[in-house]
Parts: sequence; C-alpha cells; structure tokens
Amino acid sequence: MNERMKELVQILNEANYNYYVLDNPTITDQEFDNYMRELINLEAKYPEFKQSDSPTQRVGGEVVSSFNKVYHEKPMLSLSNVFNEDEIRDFDERLKRENIKPEYVCELKIDGLSVSLLYEKGILKRAATRGDGVVGEDITHNAKTIKDIPLRINEPIDIEVRGEIYMTKKSLLELNEKRIERGVEPLANARNAAAGSVRQLDSKVAASRNLSCFIYHLPNPEDYNIKTHFEALEFMRKLGFVVSDNNRKVKDINELLKFIEYWTIERPNLPYDIDGVVIKLNDLKDQQKAGYTAKYPKWATAYKFPAELVLTKLKDIKMTVGRTGQVTPNAILEPVFLMGSVISKATLHNEDYIKMKDIRIGDTVAIRKAGDVIPRVEKVILDRRTGKEKPFEVPKVCPICGSMLIKKDAAYYCENPDCDKKTIEKLIHFASRDAMNIEGFGDAIVEDFYNMGYLKDIPDFYNLEKSKEQLMELEGFGLKSIENLLDAAKKSKENSLEKLLFGLGIRHVGAKGAKVLAKHFKTMDNLLEASYEDLVNIPDVGDIIAKSIVDYFLDYKNKEMINKLKEYNLNMEYLGNEKVNLNISGKTFVLTGALESITRDQAEEMIENAGGKTSSSVSKKTYAVIVGSDPGSKYTKAKELNIPIWSEQEFLEKIKE
Ligand code: IVH
Repeated sequence: MNERMKELVQILNEANYNYYVLDNPTITDQEFDNYMRELINLEAKYPEFKQSDSPTQRVGGEVVSSFNKVYHEKPMLSLSNVFNEDEIRDFDERLKRENIKPEYVCELKIDGLSVSLLYEKGILKRAATRGDGVVGEDITHNAKTIKDIPLRINEPIDIEVRGEIYMTKKSLLELNEKRIERGVEPLANARNAAAGSVRQLDSKVAASRNLSCFIYHLPNPEDYNIKTHFEALEFMRKLGFVVSDNNRKVKDINELLKFIEYWTIERPNLPYDIDGVVIKLNDLKDQQKAGYTAKYPKWATAYKFPAELVLTKLKDIKMTVGRTGQVTPNAILEPVFLMGSVISKATLHNEDYIKMKDIRIGDTVAIRKAGDVIPRVEKVILDRRTGKEKPFEVPKVCPICGSMLIKKDAAYYCENPDCDKKTIEKLIHFASRDAMNIEGFGDAIVEDFYNMGYLKDIPDFYNLEKSKEQLMELEGFGLKSIENLLDAAKKSKENSLEKLLFGLGIRHVGAKGAKVLAKHFKTMDNLLEASYEDLVNIPDVGDIIAKSIVDYFLDYKNKEMINKLKEYNLNMEYLGNEKVNLNISGKTFVLTGALESITRDQAEEMIENAGGKTSSSVSKKTYAVIVGSDPGSKYTKAKELNIPIWSEQEFLEKIKE
C-alpha cells in the first residue's frame, strides 16, 4: 500500500504543478478527483504511511491553537521607496558613486504579504510571516494549502526561499460575493484578505481562500554557487517555485524607466494587484558592495505608483443623510478595482460639483483614490457619451423624511430633528471608536435596534438592560452577545469627558476640539455654564465652534439628555491620563499616506496625549513626518527640507518610549 500511496502522491503533485505552475493541465479533473479520493481513503486506512508532501494537505484541516514564533536566521528586510524619476536617478547615481556599474532586475511589487519558506531535504518544513523582520509567525499549516507553494521541490536540498503570498483580483471578488450573500462585510482589499487568510488558526479557511504565491528572493545564494539575482530566480523556478514571468534584466536606467512606464499602463490588466516596481542590483557582488541599512538593502528599492485613476460607469446618484443632516450626493458605480479595493461608491461632494463637472447618470467617469481619502469622481470621459446619459437634479427634499432641505454654502441640510437617518447616524457616531467606543454596536446593529424601537436616543444605550429578555430573542442574538453589548455600554460610562463630548456630535466639535474643551473646563458642568466669551477666548476655539456649543446647550432637549446621562452615572469629568513623552512633547508632526495598524485620528490622539501637536503641512518647524503607504506631496516636501521621516512602526516605537 505504501508504494501505491507514494505513486499517487507523485501523480497528484505533478498534476498540480503542471496545472498551477506551468498552466498546462496533463490529466482531466475527473482523473484528478479519482486519484485524490483513492489517496484520501488510503491515508485514512494507513495513516502511518501518510507522506509529508501529500497533496491531501492542500484541502486544509490542520488547526493550530496559536501561532508559534519563528526566528529568521537572516532578517527579512523591507524596501526603501522612491516615488518619481528624480528619486530613481538618485538611487542609480548613489550606486554609481560606490563604483558599481549597475545592471538591474526589475520585478513587479506584488501587493500581498511576505513569506519565508524552509525546505529540508526538499520537503516543506516551515512557512513563516515576516513579523517585525527578526521574529515572525509560523503559518506552515496554512501555507500547505496554497497550490503555488510546492510541498516537495525538485531537488532533495535544504533551502530557504522568500516571496509574497497574495490573492488574485478574481478570488477577492468571489470571496466578497460570498461574504455579501452571507451578510458579512466584504474585505477591503486583496492584501488584507491575503493577510487575514494566513492568520487563521484553522487551515480550512486558508484553503478556501484560493491564495497564490510568487517567489522572489533567495537569502543564501552563495550556498548554491549563484552569482546573480537573475540566476537565483531561474534556479528557484527550476526547483518548482512560481517565479513571475514579468521579471526583466535591464542594463541601464533608460530601460528601467521603460519597464516602469509599461507597467504603469498595463497594471490594470494584471490578474493581481501591484503597487509598484522593485528594482534590484543583479550582480550579487555588487549587492554586497552596496550593503544594507538596519531596515533596507541599499542594493534595492521600490518605485511606488502614484494614486491610480480608473474608469467605470456611473449607474446612479443616491442622496445620503449624515448625522448633521447634510444631504450629499453619492455616485453608485459599476464595481471596479482601485488600489487594491473594490469600489462601488464614490463621493460627488455637492450640487455645484456635479454641475461644474457636468456629471450625468450613465456617464463613464474616472475615479481616484489617494491614500486614506474616500474615492471621488474626478471627471467625465466625454468621448464615451452616447447621448443617453441623464443630467441629475439634486432633490430639494430629504430622501428619508421628506422635509424641505435648507441650503447653507454649497451643501443642503435636512433640519428635521426627528429625521430617522439623522438620528441613526448620530447614534452610530456616539458608539464609534473615536467617540464612546462601545464595542459591538456596529452600524447594522444600531440601525436595527433603532428601527425596532430599543434605541431611540443616546441615553438608551445605557437603558437596554430593561429590554434584555426581548433582545435575546432576536434572530442572530443570544444571551452572550447581548450581555457583551450591555457590558460594552457599561464600560463606556467610565470614559473621559472628551470622548463623551465628541460623541454628542455637537456641530464643529471634532475629536480635537472636544479634547481642548475637556482639558480646559475639566467637567461637563463647567462647560454648561460657559458663555460665548469664555469659549471664544480659549486658544484653538474659534467663533464658529463657540457659537455652536452655546446653541447646543441652549436647546433644552440636549440639556435634558445630558441630565439623563448623569442619572445613568456616566463620567462627566476630564480624566487627563496623558503621560508626557519627552521625545515628543511640544514637537509638531505631520502625517501623510495611509496608516496600517491605527487610524489617523488615533495617531493624532497619541501624539497629543504625549504632549505633541499635529499640523497638516510640512515646514521647517516640523519635527518629523510620519509616512504611511501611498504618501502625498508632504513626503516629497519633507525630503526637500531634510525633515526626519518616520515609518508607522518607528512612530509607534518612539511613542511607546
Ligand atoms: S524584495 C531584501 N521583491 O514589498 C529583499 N519584495 O515594501 C526584500 N514585495 O517586504 C524584498 N513584491 O513583502 C521584493 N518582487 C518583490 C516584491 C517584494 C512585493 C513586498 C515584500 C516587501 C515589501 C517592501
């Protein structure tokens, strides 16, 4: 039996390789299924003969209780970034100054997560994430389900290779369709989807996600007598790894720029997302000469594409009502991929914007997304007009309650205090992370509870106990989930005053303003007694904010609500828990690009809590610029002015200090 099992493993692994790697199927699906079934049955009967490279592992099933830490013998480095031709030329010049005559290998920068694969005697023994570069996490059980990752390679050698696990655009679409069917939030982009999939304890989930993997790095080429990076890529391809066909050797910077130009245009036609081009010195001796910083190899860099524009159809325009009553037009789009996410909605700002750009329903439009900004309709492609497009008249009544809208500046507002949507949005805001942070009260639950009458106004968050029995009976809920919601609400009563102030949603009082007020007045009662003059004299509180606060507290309904919250024992004092960080105290920071592990608001809050300030523009006075992915011109300006540039990771480390 052992012999037959070995034979089946070989047949199936070869078939997988031909199908997934060479794109050249050699047996029919039917034959494959039959062999697979035979092998599964034999392995069930004779588990002692199960081969370590058996393809049955591809379907998942192994469940781990936690992720073991893995130490990387050679640190897994990241790449420095360049954003334009000048910076590419600087990179090239710097290498030339080191007496290197550069020949480069250009590769596509796949938007996924990096992985290290370790083989012993040709068998996959361990797969690990990058982690902080030195210590990563063991994800072997999940990596084994990825068809592009060979369980056995073509030589019985010990070797480590590194590459990128990613999800194709098609797989992400399919996954999101299924999620939407199940009523679960779709995943924002392919990178998050891939990262989330490999961080699952149960490998069945990763198996169902249809992940892929490109290999692009050989950490110890000297062990195999390899002289250039391109040779290393060919060597790894021969071993059975999937190495991209799009890698090119280029002999000078002009060829390099052509490669970038080509992929800037061709990028949307790739079946997976890329966010740039990686440029690597080809000669390994030259690589040694160029050397490393603590974080990056100096022999490579990543050119990042500028914010992308894509074309799609504007199917409809829908008006949405926000918590302030502002009614804004939103474009409903034919879903398209843009910078790693599926976009189906974009903002159209206001009536004037629609008129100025002559945007009509049915138009083909260009959408742009920059950093963490909401996508917006940039322009109409007039060439694509057929004559059937319909101009859009912004309605003058609220789409929810039918009240007449009032125009203020360029925007329209629903002034009906009882408009359902306004109230729902107000409640969602109150529970949101930057406000009272009542965990579990997501948009859908708040809306449902509102519609069922359990949550009509803010104080109701603290009076749900009385409806506990009924809530438990609701579909999809049980004792545990309701208790979690009640506990979260209870916990939020302890929040410092600024969270409550921000949560109330007083017009023009953002998270920052709420902090200034809480710090100044210390208690809600002091704030309630404050006059317009008291308010306007506070630095950072202008005329508009001061008026808005006075108006808010003049409304008896708001006063009544605050009294109710007091009755429910909500903390009404500023807890002032900031610890001043000497490195940061008094310094001004600028944020640019999308942060990964925290939101921009959280980063700003952390800086302020540590005694620092944030500003929206870079000047000589800026202490450091914190750079996320796809940064804007602030990054270039910081470089020009020689302002220190911190990555998100660096910032988090420094603020912890
Ligand atoms: S080389 C020392 N090549 O980009 C070599 N990285 O922003 C370091 N990436 O951490 C990596 N495609 O996760 C390399 N063709 C490619 C890549 C690539 C995507 C990722 C990788 C790296 C990140 C740096």
